[in-house]
Amino acid sequence: MFLQLDGHGPQYAQLTRAIKAGILNGRLTSGMRLPPTRTLALELGLSRITILTAYEQLRADGFIRGCAGSGSYISTLQITQALHAPESTVAPPSRYAQRARQVYDRTHYQPHIELPYDLQYGTPLTNVELSAAWGHELARAATYTALRGVGTQGLHALRQQICDYLALRRGITTLPENVLIVNGTQQAYTLSARVLIDENDSAVLEEPHYFGAYQALVAHGVRVHSVRTDSEGIVCDELPDSAPRLICVTPSHQFPSGAVMSLPRRLELLRYAAAKQCWILEDDYDGEFRYDGRPLAALRSLDEEDRVIYAGTFTKALFGSLRLGYMVLPVALRDDFVMAKYFSDISSSGIEQTALAHFMEDGGFERHLRYARTELQARREALVDGLRRYVGDRVDIVDTPAGMHVVVWLRDYDYASVNALIALARQRGLGLHPVEVHYLKPPPYPGLILGYCGLSPNALREAMQLFGKCLDEIDAKARRRTA
Ligand SMILES: Cc1ncc(COP(=O)(O)O)c(C=O)c1O
Repeated sequence: MFLQLDGHGPQYAQLTRAIKAGILNGRLTSGMRLPPTRTLALELGLSRITILTAYEQLRADGFIRGCAGSGSYISTLQITQALHAPESTVAPPSRYAQRARQVYDRTHYQPHIELPYDLQYGTPLTNVELSAAWGHELARAATYTALRGVGTQGLHALRQQICDYLALRRGITTLPENVLIVNGTQQAYTLSARVLIDENDSAVLEEPHYFGAYQALVAHGVRVHSVRTDSEGIVCDELPDSAPRLICVTPSHQFPSGAVMSLPRRLELLRYAAAKQCWILEDDYDGEFRYDGRPLAALRSLDEEDRVIYAGTFTKALFGSLRLGYMVLPVALRDDFVMAKYFSDISSSGIEQTALAHFMEDGGFERHLRYARTELQARREALVDGLRRYVGDRVDIVDTPAGMHVVVWLRDYDYASVNALIALARQRGLGLHPVEVHYLKPPPYPGLILGYCGLSPNALREAMQLFGKCLDEIDAKARRRTA
């Protein structure tokens, strides 16, 4: 079968793209049988796992039907003429689109497939009471929301609720005038790039970092200056001599390593920003969730120079598809950010803002946070206990009592064996995800980011048992090779 791989990103993604392109340009037609995975693996010189993963992705996207064993067939699809347009008629993309293409693949490191035990970071904590309460709030909001919309900066009542919450929980004193409602922290990154950075200006990102932040900045044309983090957060001594325009940090819970930025580092970072006249973007993505009772004030609460842009999100505390977050803006930047938000999407959804404002006012948000903290702590303990019991000292657990994920390092394994472990686990229904997607330079040994939000404590114990068994198999294979 003739398939041209484009050489960008992981091989399974290249193969998925090549087959999709064949279907969309009409070369591979409805009902056609795809070669068996072993045959195609031999033909293309790729591993069978790569072919299986690509087929699974195509199946999940609806491009093919059938299953491994009984054959995979191209689905019956209504392909429109537009999709047949030859590549050459498509105008060359903008510089933005070209840069975006280069960084986009990192998001799709593994295709999304429903697995019984998926430890995907970012899966929400589902909760029947929350769903019922939210349904009620939405219905109420749909009746009361003015059809004209709520203004670009966001519903005043919601901004007031956010100010009250920030004063109580994050030590931040601010006014609704300084708050901008956005569609999650991802939009906070995009707006920051637009407002603060010209093409080729530099921005500091922590290493490791959230890859979504990297993508938003690089697609915009930012030169990323990566600065190491250690157990006290970003290493300020290694900040660049020449002033960057923006420094992006996760002080409450470094992502994904889990370090908490120490007070001396926080003060040093603020001094640096004041001296270099640059802005700090504080991404407080899971500041709500600390399980050792120690309240942690946000970096913004120490900021006397008004240099910290604070970004908070409801996508972690409530649910991902809510896509609502907020920024607390330095006064000097406020109008420019509101303008950029206007040009981007006029405003965030008025109905959802109304529902959320009422949910907060009524105490529903605080109630949910109390429930979520207890439940997440139980899940975290189940995961860590399961790891200790079934995986043992084959992994080093980074144990920070916060957040929604745990990082483990597999110091005695190389990248190839951990990739084999991930592939084997997927076949057994367990989703394991590598942590290196959040690094610019791969760390010295492989690690995994284990999200524990989406599984019950029992399911997490079962998942860890499965993890242990898969690792046993990898160990047995390695022993056979060396015997
Ligand atoms: C560290 C970090 N920042 C930002 C985001 C994006 O958040 P949002 O869903 O609010 O866009 C995430 C999402 O997982 C994250 O982990």
